Amino acid sequence: MKGLITAGGRGTRLRPITHTKNKHLIPVAGKPIIVYAIETLKEAGIIDIGITYNADLDTLQSFLKNGEDFGVNLVYIHQKEPIGLADCIRVSKDFLKDDSFVFFLGDNLLAGGILKYKKIFEEKKPQSLLLLSKVQDPQRFGVPEFDKAGKIVKIEEKPESPKSDFAITGIYFYDSTIFKAFEGKNHIVPSERGELEISDVHQYLIDHGYTVLGENITGWWKDTGKPNDLLFANRLILEKHTEYSISESAFIDDLSSISGNISVGDNSKIINSIIRGPVYIGNNTIIENSYIGPFTSIGNNNSLVLSEIEHSLLLDNISIFNIQQRIDESIIGDNVIISKKESKPAVYNLYLGDHSIIKI
Ligand code: TTP
Repeated sequence: MKGLITAGGRGTRLRPITHTKNKHLIPVAGKPIIVYAIETLKEAGIIDIGITYNADLDTLQSFLKNGEDFGVNLVYIHQKEPIGLADCIRVSKDFLKDDSFVFFLGDNLLAGGILKYKKIFEEKKPQSLLLLSKVQDPQRFGVPEFDKAGKIVKIEEKPESPKSDFAITGIYFYDSTIFKAFEGKNHIVPSERGELEISDVHQYLIDHGYTVLGENITGWWKDTGKPNDLLFANRLILEKHTEYSISESAFIDDLSSISGNISVGDNSKIINSIIRGPVYIGNNTIIENSYIGPFTSIGNNNSLVLSEIEHSLLLDNISIFNIQQRIDESIIGDNVIISKKESKPAVYNLYLGDHSIIKI
């Protein structure tokens, strides 16, 4: 079985971070989101993986390379425009050939892995197996309708009256029958919004008599496409993966108080500060006279002085100085400076890029 992971799209909901960064490369607890997807496939024994991209080939490749560092073989597949998830599969035909594959949205996170579902797919041999998650608000998702045997008979996109409580997640298994949806009689066409929709592919398979099964996932699943979801994923990953680990070259002074699981990277310094885990702190970062509360990921080359922060995600090269009010539920991109204005007049002085959000 092969794997196909998406690394394209527009990322509009994560602006301004995505003005300069491919969202799949946003690090959560020190690891870009897409790496969690690659590791999930690797754990299930899937090592031949295609990565679809629109732009950013250089940055993706400079980080992921040929996959060797993660124990997989990566092939980069160009999708000319982000015109739909089904189009990502369509453009990957030369790579996928006649093999079955798992299609994994590169901004999705799934606890518990996919091995169990891969086995079900291989045993039952449907044309497609969709991973489903029980949600409180199915109206926001693609929602399946089942027959008594658990076979999906219909999929409705964002229905007003959902026929089940399940959302279709961003993890799907297929055999090569899927390509009939692009080439065969009555093949799918772009939707009103101009995209080749994955729901249309599923409906095509169902309408043409193929078997589309659904499996309810037991652990958590998160699509990180929106700021709140990214923060939620940050919390879940820190909770699950952070172990107490302090680099030998890190320094923590006697005045500091550390509790819970915290990870501190090379050459980072913690001076007269309180850290309550789970917290991840990268390399070359200075925390001084500050408080860092649970569920905070802080990247590399940052400085946090006389400030308080919790439940937040900080990328790299950030300076936060003398901010009295605690920063909470925030995502801060690379090269940001936040500081108290020391001179009069006492005003807010803002130099903000497009789509920035400030709540004071
Ligand atoms: P989405 O999050 O649905 O779309 P997006 O990334 O364009 O974000 P936004 O809606 O905020 O503008 O995409 C889900 C995944 O699929 C994500 O990994 C991006 C990827 N994708 C592609 O690679 N190509 C595409 O044509 C589309 C629509 C998405």
